[in-house]
Amino acid sequence: MNAINQFYKNGAIGVFDSGIGGLSVLSEIRKALPDVNLIYFGDQDHVPYGPRELSQVLGFSMAITEFLLSLGSKMIVVACNTASAAALKELRETYSEMPFVGMEPAIKPAVEQTLSGAVGVLATPATFQSKLYASVIERFATGVEIYQDTCPGLVQEIEKGNFNGKVTTKILNKALYPMLEKNIDSIVLGCTHYPYVISLIKFLVGPDVRVINPAPAVARQTKKIFSQIIRSGNPELSPTTTIITSGDEKKLRKKVRDFFPYENSVMKANWIENQLVLNVTQ
Ligand code: DGL
Repeated sequence: MNAINQFYKNGAIGVFDSGIGGLSVLSEIRKALPDVNLIYFGDQDHVPYGPRELSQVLGFSMAITEFLLSLGSKMIVVACNTASAAALKELRETYSEMPFVGMEPAIKPAVEQTLSGAVGVLATPATFQSKLYASVIERFATGVEIYQDTCPGLVQEIEKGNFNGKVTTKILNKALYPMLEKNIDSIVLGCTHYPYVISLIKFLVGPDVRVINPAPAVARQTKKIFSQIIRSGNPELSPTTTIITSGDEKKLRKKVRDFFPYENSVMKANWIENQLVLNVTQ
């Protein structure tokens, strides 16, 4: 409980995703902001979000935000493209005083840099169906061909820790091969789980295709906004990172050792009547 008490006192940045995907963003935020408390929530009880209705993901995102605010978050990073697509607008309307940073597929840099005029995007079905994605395409994808794939099953394989096995390779080959045939020269990672398989993606597409991971840009934006809201704050002498899951915290603790090379503690929260309750007995 010590870590949580500290958040109440000094504030923190709250970050969430459906599972371990957002840890790829959390690592970048920790690099950019070494002296800030971070609270991460991974909704592993409900992962994957991608095949769900946007309205259901909206409900989860609202409750998770409420939970992270109750733990002392001063801003929220929606480190999930699917949750951003489903909920970012409503979150900003509901918590109008609270700064939010969300994710959207990095179509803009891909379109700016493409020479072949063909760009591939990997994201979840919910992200592709969203108004947010439609507006990104409308604003930035003029004069280029966009090829999309939902990589069915990939998020689940990544949650299992399968970053380069047979099944993962098969899913990615199926997605990428038709795109390569269309002469793409950029591929946008539109899901925060996919940076875990970036080495495999790079291997499959070869050196001439640029793979765009927006996590470092999201961390820069987080730093910019956080420094505006905590102008007078002193740096934390011993900043904490608390990682909370609605799934199996013991399994996650093992995984986090490999993926998040910073001091942290892993805790469990339970969904009770559509709200998150921290398990304080741990
Ligand atoms: N990591 C998420 C995203 O960025 C969600 C993946 C999922 O749960 O389907 O979209």
